[in-house]
Amino acid sequence: MRSRIAIIGTGYVGLTTGACFAHLGHDVVCADIDPRRIERLSQGILPIFEPGLQEIVEAEIESGRLRFVVGAAEAAKDCEFAYLCVQTPQGQDGAADLTFLQAAAAEIAHVLPAHAVVVNKSTVPVGSTKVVERVLNRHDVSVVSNPEFLREGSAVSDFLKPDRVVIGSDDPSAAARVSDLYSATSGHIIVTDPASAETIKYAANAFLATKISFVNAVAAVCEAVGADVNDVVLGIGYDKRIGHEFLRPGPGWGGSCFPKDTRAMMKIAEDAGYDFNLLKGVVVVNDEQRERMVAKVERAVGGELKGAVVAAWGLTFKANTDDLRESPAIAVISELLAKGAIVRAYDPQVSSHPAIDVGSDPYDVCDGADALIVLTEWDQFRWLDLDEVKRRLGRANIVDTRNLLDRSAAIRAGFTYQGVGR
Ligand SMILES: NC(=O)c1ccc[n+]([C@@H]2O[C@H](COP(=O)([O-])OP(=O)(O)OC[C@H]3O[C@@H](n4cnc5c(N)ncnc54)[C@H](O)[C@@H]3O)[C@@H](O)[C@H]2O)c1
Repeated sequence: MRSRIAIIGTGYVGLTTGACFAHLGHDVVCADIDPRRIERLSQGILPIFEPGLQEIVEAEIESGRLRFVVGAAEAAKDCEFAYLCVQTPQGQDGAADLTFLQAAAAEIAHVLPAHAVVVNKSTVPVGSTKVVERVLNRHDVSVVSNPEFLREGSAVSDFLKPDRVVIGSDDPSAAARVSDLYSATSGHIIVTDPASAETIKYAANAFLATKISFVNAVAAVCEAVGADVNDVVLGIGYDKRIGHEFLRPGPGWGGSCFPKDTRAMMKIAEDAGYDFNLLKGVVVVNDEQRERMVAKVERAVGGELKGAVVAAWGLTFKANTDDLRESPAIAVISELLAKGAIVRAYDPQVSSHPAIDVGSDPYDVCDGADALIVLTEWDQFRWLDLDEVKRRLGRANIVDTRNLLDRSAAIRAGFTYQGVGR
C-alpha cells in the first residue's frame, strides 16, 4: 500500500530512509533545516557519498515520489508517518543530547494530521518515545521507536535487505502500520515495547564496539607472543558461537555512532545504578589502540617523529564513505602532527581538511616520505603499485593499520612492513 511519509532530517539515515521508501513505492517528502542542502537535493545533488544512493534519489525525484522541502512542518502537514532522523550528538555528561529531536517534534506537533504515526529513527536513550509523546502533546497521534541499524558505506542495501527491523510501541495498531511499511524488505520484524527497542540499538552498537576492541586486544597479545591475529581470527571464527564477522584488527573504532553510543550506553547504565565496567574497558582499549598505531610509525621512522615525513592513505572512518566524524585515521594523524611529524594524506573521498595537508594522488603524497601509514581499508589501496610506492618514498617503511596490503608482496618489494597483530 502506498503511504505518505515525511522524513525529518536528510543526513545519512534520513536521506537513505526517504529515498528507499520512495523506491519501494511510497510518497516521500524529506525536510531539513538547511535550505542550501534542500536546494541542492532538489536538483539531485547529494550532500553525502553513499554507494547506490545517487541513482535512487535521481530516479525517485523523476518519478515524483520523492520531494525535498525546508522545515519539518512543511513535510509533516499531510503525512501518515513522520520519521524523525535528526542527529542525537553526545551531550556534556555522555548522554545523548535530545535537543534536535525535541525541536523537530515541536515543529511538527501542530500540523500532524490525526492518526499520524511519529517514528523515532534517531538513536535515543530509553524513555525518548515518552519524551517525544510529551513534546507532541497529541492524543490522536502515536509514537513508535524504530531504531536504524544501517552501516555507512552499504546504507542502501542495509535498508532494503535489513537483518532485522525493530519496532517498539505500546500501540499495537501503530506498530502494525509501521511494520507494513517494511513488508517489501526482507528483514525479520521484531515488535517490542519502546524501552526494549531503544535498548536494542545501544546494545547492538556496544556489542559491535566490544568485538573490535576484543580483536584489537588479541592483536596486542599476538604481537607480544609472536602469533598472527589473522590466523587466530580464522581459527576462532569457525566456531559458530563466535563467527568471523567484525573481528578485523585495525586502528580502533570510530564514526558518528560507536563513540557516542558506547558512552550513552554507559550513562544509561550508570543512571540506572549499574556500573558497565565491561564497556569502560572497551573504550580504554580503543583509546590505547590509536596510541599503538602512532608508536608503530614512531618505530618505523627510527624513534623520532619530530620532523619525520609521513604519507597517510585514508582519512574517512572506514571505506566506502565520506564521513570523517570521529575517524580513527584523523585521530592517529592528529597525534602524529602533535608529535612534530609532517603528514601528507590521500583519501579517495576527501579533497581537503582544515588541519591536514590532503593531496589528490596516492603516489604523490609518498614523495620523499619516511613512512607510509595505511589508515582506511579502501579497496583501491590494495591494488596500488608497491614498486612505484617504493620509488616515491624516501625510506621503504609501511605501517598497515588495517592489515590491508599483501604483506609478503610488500616484504618481497623491499619494504619494512608492520601490520597489526602479526
Ligand atoms: N550515520 C549512521 O550510520 C547511523 C546509523 C544508525 C543510526 N544513526 C542515528 O540516526 C540519527 C541521524 O544520524 P545521521 O548520521 O543521519 O545524522 P546527520 O547529522 O548526518 O543528519 C541529521 C540531519 O538532520 C537535520 N536536522 C536537524 N534538526 C532538524 C529539524 N528540526 N528539521 C529538519 N532537519 C533537521 C540536520 O540539518 C542534518 O542534515 C542519529 O541519532 C544517529 O545516531 C546513524
